[in-house]
Amino acid sequence: MDKLVIRGGTKLGGTVHASGSKNAALPLMAAALLPENGRSTLRRIPDLKDIRTFSMLLEQLGAAVDANGGVFSINAENIRSVRAPYELVKQMRASIYVLGPLLARFGHASVSLPGGCAFGPRPIDLHLMAMEKLGATIAIDKGYIEASVGPGGLKGGDIEFPISTVGATGNALMAAVLADGVTTIKNASLEPEIVALCDFLETMGAEIEGAGTPSLRITGVKRLHAAEFSNIFDRIEAATLLTAGAITGGEVCVTAVDPAHLTAVLRAFEQTGCEIVTDTESVTLRSPEVLRRTDIIANPYPLFPTDMQAQWIALMTQAEGTSEIIDKVYHERFKHIPELNRLGAHIEINDNEATIHGPRKLTGTTVMSTDLRASACLVLAGLVAEGETEVLRIYHLDRGYEQIEKKLSGLGADIKRRQYQEFA
Ligand code: EPU
Repeated sequence: MDKLVIRGGTKLGGTVHASGSKNAALPLMAAALLPENGRSTLRRIPDLKDIRTFSMLLEQLGAAVDANGGVFSINAENIRSVRAPYELVKQMRASIYVLGPLLARFGHASVSLPGGCAFGPRPIDLHLMAMEKLGATIAIDKGYIEASVGPGGLKGGDIEFPISTVGATGNALMAAVLADGVTTIKNASLEPEIVALCDFLETMGAEIEGAGTPSLRITGVKRLHAAEFSNIFDRIEAATLLTAGAITGGEVCVTAVDPAHLTAVLRAFEQTGCEIVTDTESVTLRSPEVLRRTDIIANPYPLFPTDMQAQWIALMTQAEGTSEIIDKVYHERFKHIPELNRLGAHIEINDNEATIHGPRKLTGTTVMSTDLRASACLVLAGLVAEGETEVLRIYHLDRGYEQIEKKLSGLGADIKRRQYQEFA
């Protein structure tokens, strides 16, 4: 297995670029299943473990996937299976994204239930509810979602989500674009990743009104055609790299970002005393002498993202005073806290609220990654800890951060990837 070995204490400085967004790329790749012929081209797809897993899933279904650098061409003419097997779905919950497109195009789909998640319950009931509203019959059989529709195919329907959900909004969209008639989606997710999906679907010939608003109206079309699309930048990776600048007291410019996607995070940085300068596709962060405590509440977009909650907690260990961080999206996403405390942080957790007493001197030791963003949080803590921090099980990190150690060492960090053996 791989680990990262970090010698903390260097102020980071310089310019680094963000990669294409993982969480936008996955539904875009799923949407490439929709056209009956032709080859869709997706640009700026990051080289990540999750992308490779999703490519394997598409190939397993019969799609031809060619990756050349960040350019993926996907031809779904010869789909031979509508079954997403447990072996792949258990590696990545986002595999559920094939449900909507397969059902819409073939009238049935068989997708393994994803099972547990490292940071608490993550049900998929709203994905299923949306498919039922479009006329699908859903059964759960031997751990698989068996979804099917009658001979007339999916029918437009009215879907109202009781909570904001990125994944179920994406699945509903990919099903509704080929359904017969009009579908409305209320309380649709506003995330830029969903707007990107709408844009790609429209490029393929879909009729969607209201992208980026909570109210979507989709008029189903008979067929979609293959198309080309450039993925959006990864706002969470960009924000993580800015945090690396802030936690080390440095000055970092992240290019290849859309600052509009980072409004809530940039506002929070400003509250800590960081100076933020934005340009059309870049953000520069200059750290203050002393970081101020800044409370945040993680919520759906456009508010502060849950995918930055762990990294923000790492930052607050270095801020003056006591800060409160609440996660309203995932109430149990706090596995990083015991590990941060092992590095010397003083953090208490009560339900979905973390109280961080700062500033604390962190001291390097061996810590364990438990999920993607928790791993990023531990790497950030390692950058400021005295001595050497070893972050184990970084396969979690490799799911969502492209060449993170190269990007951080380009900014001056002392960080190396090493192999190690874990004993059972
Ligand atoms: N939810 C339900 N039922 C459902 C679906 C969701 O109760 O059927 C709940 C979830 O348990 C959660 C809330 O709704 O409490 C929001 O979940 P959402 O559906 O928005 O999450 P997701 O689509 O499964 C995506 C990202 C996550 C990110 C969340 C929230 C991808 C592949 N994943 O997950 O990203 O945390 O949205 O923004 O896009 C990550 O990148 O580290 C990551 C976990």
